[in-house]
Amino acid sequence: MWRFLHLLLGLFGGHVMSEYFGSGFKPGDTWISFEHVEFLTVSGYGDFDGQGKSAWGQKCGTSEYCKNLPINVRFDFVTNALVQDVTTLDSKQFHVNVLGCKNITFNNFKVIAPGTSIHTDGIHNGRSTDVKILNSNIQTGDDCVSIGDDSKQITLTQVTCGSGHGISIGSLGKYPNEEPVEDIFVTGCTLKNTQNGVRIKTWPKSNPGTASDMHFEDISMENVGNPVLIDQEYCPWNACNIKVPSKVKLSNIIFKKIRGTTSTPLAVCLVCSQGFPCENVVVQDIDLKYSGSEGPVTSQCKNVKPTVSGTHNPTACLNATAAH
Ligand SMILES: *[C@@H]1O[C@H](CO)[C@@H](O)[C@H](O)[C@H]1NC(C)=O
Ligand SMILES: *[C@@H]1O[C@H](CO)[C@@H](O)[C@H](O)[C@H]1NC(C)=O
Repeated sequence: MWRFLHLLLGLFGGHVMSEYFGSGFKPGDTWISFEHVEFLTVSGYGDFDGQGKSAWGQKCGTSEYCKNLPINVRFDFVTNALVQDVTTLDSKQFHVNVLGCKNITFNNFKVIAPGTSIHTDGIHNGRSTDVKILNSNIQTGDDCVSIGDDSKQITLTQVTCGSGHGISIGSLGKYPNEEPVEDIFVTGCTLKNTQNGVRIKTWPKSNPGTASDMHFEDISMENVGNPVLIDQEYCPWNACNIKVPSKVKLSNIIFKKIRGTTSTPLAVCLVCSQGFPCENVVVQDIDLKYSGSEGPVTSQCKNVKPTVSGTHNPTACLNATAAH
């Protein structure tokens, strides 16, 4: 259902489907999709209400059930697009999936779903170039914005995230022949009560890949777990072998002016691959306070030797394992 939504479209090659209830959908379904559109504008203060409350909580995690639920809105192979003032509400799975797009801007965009909703990434990007997410507010149950393989020139500015899992690059390396991730700029963003802050995650025992030129600057954290995180041993549900190093090479990464409060004592954690240590990592002006009872604020570095400058709370690489 959409309410008071104006779609001012150039060429409209998508389709709009009616409401899904219960299990009346097929795996891989989408509710609304825009496909192969040039000069698309979606604007207006309406919302796409995915009615996810009817679907969450049913066997998620243990089966493919939740991954197969419909995505609220897809943009597939859309170029020169503006999505403005729109809200997506209670999606059953990802709120927005951006695939194969070029020059698409989300401005004053909103995502609203409870922190308990599963697999409800706010905006997932893959195989797209020049995606801008500006002045937006994303409250959901999974990643605020996630950036998959073959993403280039992705800019997030003045995005507020929370609840949810924070801003993620990855997870990378799961599939063969993943294309590089390049030129990611996350600036002037705020994370509130999220499980993670800014994160780069790759699978252990992975396929080869690269991610480079990732810039996180001027980020405000409010009660955020793992505020600064590189995790090349990303292995949810222990469904992988973390003893075999990731083959995804990470390089040219800047974490700068990151301040606020952390909900976990390990505030800066850079765990890189033993097989492919991180290269050219800069950590500058970090000021994260922890007021919980699990000890002092701390940091960890593995297979990375960052260039450190400016303020450092916690001190960088308190617990370090040298790169080979
Ligand atoms: C990007 O898309 C916007 C919105 O349609 C358009 O105004 C702008 O000219 C496009 N930029 C380029 C470089 O094509
Ligand atoms: C450093 O990290 C290792 C492995 O995670 C852990 O066993 C050890 O207790 C840590 N040391 C300190 C001083 O935090």
